[in-house]
Amino acid sequence: MPALLSSTREVPEVGNIPKHVAIIMDGNGRWAKQRYLPRIAGHKQGVEAVRGTIRACIEKGISYLTIFAFSSENWRRPAEEVKLLMQLFLTALEREVSSLHENGVRFRVIGDLSKFDPQIVDCVRHGEMLTANNTRLYFTVAANYGGRWDIMQAVRKMIAQHPDLAADFDEPDLSRHLAMADAPEPDLFIRTGGECRISNFLLWQLAYTELYFTDMLWPDFNAAALDEAILSYQKRERRFGRTSEQLAGQQATRNTILGENKI
Ligand code: IPE
Ligand code: IPE
Ligand code: MG
Repeated sequence: MPALLSSTREVPEVGNIPKHVAIIMDGNGRWAKQRYLPRIAGHKQGVEAVRGTIRACIEKGISYLTIFAFSSENWRRPAEEVKLLMQLFLTALEREVSSLHENGVRFRVIGDLSKFDPQIVDCVRHGEMLTANNTRLYFTVAANYGGRWDIMQAVRKMIAQHPDLAADFDEPDLSRHLAMADAPEPDLFIRTGGECRISNFLLWQLAYTELYFTDMLWPDFNAAALDEAILSYQKRERRFGRTSEQLAGQQATRNTILGENKI
């Protein structure tokens, strides 16, 4: 029997500022529609909001930002919108990668890139290599990503690399092969656009993430909106299955240790 291990068995130190923020950027289409503009105008303005959010994350000392740019289900959209989204992705990559690098951002894409145009894949790989050693902000874009895809690819990779594990593996064995294996699980999840669903984003990693939903449409998202989400996060008590009293006990022990160290 595999050991009963859960990826969330340790209560992480809950800091004031979330270490990892994951965002479903939704509402671009509606933003454009409200202005009698084509949907792609909303997506373009959405890229601007991403730029502002990266800046705000750096200023606030957030270490990891992961955004959902294109889901494995978004191929179901009209071919014309998919084509324009791909063009926008390519243009954004070409324009932004060097400034990400100048700002010390490490850039990565997670998802099944095999469905993308080779030109996009080249740009992604170039950006990943260029920024590989940066540490100021770990910025990950989920493109043709799906949480179920991620779990399936992790199972396949794990078994291919360790056939012995096929019959007996535990959560850490599997999670090592997930696309975000090198990042802590998100502390704060934000979804704009008013829908209260996960839409097949980081299914495994969001197990104990604090969820925040706002009606604001993604192109309107800015530093103040991020502040509001963080404020909501700071009011939560993350218990990871424990009771409030247990957490108070742990905090008291931490304070004692801190106090003792001062003496
Ligand atoms: C999110 O905005 C961007 C992508 C999914 C690519 P939408 O395009 O879903 O905008 P709405 O939900 O139609 O307003
Ligand atoms: C989720 O947005 C995916 C991205 C933001 C990339 P959608 O607008 O596609 O989500 P659903 O399908 O309405 O849930
Ligand atoms: Mg949408």
